[in-house]
Amino acid sequence: MKKLGTAVIGTGFWGKNHARVYSELESTELVAICDVNRERAKAVANQFGVKAYTSSSRMLKNEDVEALSVCTWSTKLAEEALKALKAGKHVLVEKPMATRTKQAEKLLGVAEENGLHLTVGFLMRFIPGLQHIREAVENKKIGELVCATAKRVSQWPERIGDVGVVKDTAIHDIDVMRYVSNEDPIGVYAKTGSMRHRKFEDYAQIMLTYEDGKSAFIESNWLTPYKTRSLTVTGSDAIMRLDYMTQELWIEEPKENLQPRYPWQEPLKLELKHFADCVSEKKKPLITGVDGLKALQIAEAALRSSAKNRAIKLR
Ligand SMILES: NC(=O)c1ccc[n+]([C@@H]2O[C@H](COP(=O)([O-])OP(=O)(O)OC[C@H]3O[C@@H](n4cnc5c(N)ncnc54)[C@H](O)[C@@H]3O)[C@@H](O)[C@H]2O)c1
Repeated sequence: MKKLGTAVIGTGFWGKNHARVYSELESTELVAICDVNRERAKAVANQFGVKAYTSSSRMLKNEDVEALSVCTWSTKLAEEALKALKAGKHVLVEKPMATRTKQAEKLLGVAEENGLHLTVGFLMRFIPGLQHIREAVENKKIGELVCATAKRVSQWPERIGDVGVVKDTAIHDIDVMRYVSNEDPIGVYAKTGSMRHRKFEDYAQIMLTYEDGKSAFIESNWLTPYKTRSLTVTGSDAIMRLDYMTQELWIEEPKENLQPRYPWQEPLKLELKHFADCVSEKKKPLITGVDGLKALQIAEAALRSSAKNRAIKLR
């Protein structure tokens, strides 16, 4: 089987992992990488034995590149994804996809016009325990969904200086809530603020409300000395808890506690394999550009809610 020719734009902390995974997967071949930082581009390209570029426009002329990941600074994601789509490449753009919803809408339009795949790096959806939760909610194995609570806290990763904690971090959980409930929230109320970060909010508490009365609560910050990434989903008959880092899942039912075991798997490997399979087999990806756009719309509404100190209707 012919391998899918892949590339990565932006090979910093996270893009380097995309490059490694594309070079490890059986279905993909890493062809090239691009980073505006010449030293970094050279070092990463040498590590994987591929061609280094410092200009994405030049790399996009390379016909061996069929699909690519955009892992630049968040404020550059939309610009680079747009160039790649215009050059006819299938794109996985990292979260938050864009910094403004208008840019995300543009990406959707160009991908559709050119018949290209556009997916967004909402990695959590590839963790088997989260897929278990989603199925359990859908099949009412925990009764009716009452609420879900997500916690994603750590110290400020100082390399992130161009967006705040809502668009960088909470956006994962905004997408998780849409995924688990299989529904769009109708309202958002948020409190955000900054204690250490000079330019952007570094803590956020976000409440999402749904048509039938259920709700979701997201706590995100860059102020906590330890790292926690967890989800608790409360149903009328049972509670499910997931630790994203260990991938452990617990189910508490009235008569017993269960701990379904899934072998730990690298979510990025599952994500990029899925992207490559969808491109090669012309299948719709689990996460579409619309999912990216909707999560960004909710993130922007959360920031507006906090600035105006009132709940914002989402529809
Ligand atoms: N899905 C996830 O779980 C996850 C995890 C970490 C980071 N991310 C996302 O990945 C992106 C990168 O994050 P990071 O932590 O690697 O940041 P980083 O600062 O370590 O790396 C960004 C790299 O992009 C390069 N760059 C910037 N603009 C460029 C351009 N126009 N063309 C080519 N190269 C460019 C920089 O030189 C740098 O090497 C962010 O959007 C972040 O939100 C996602």
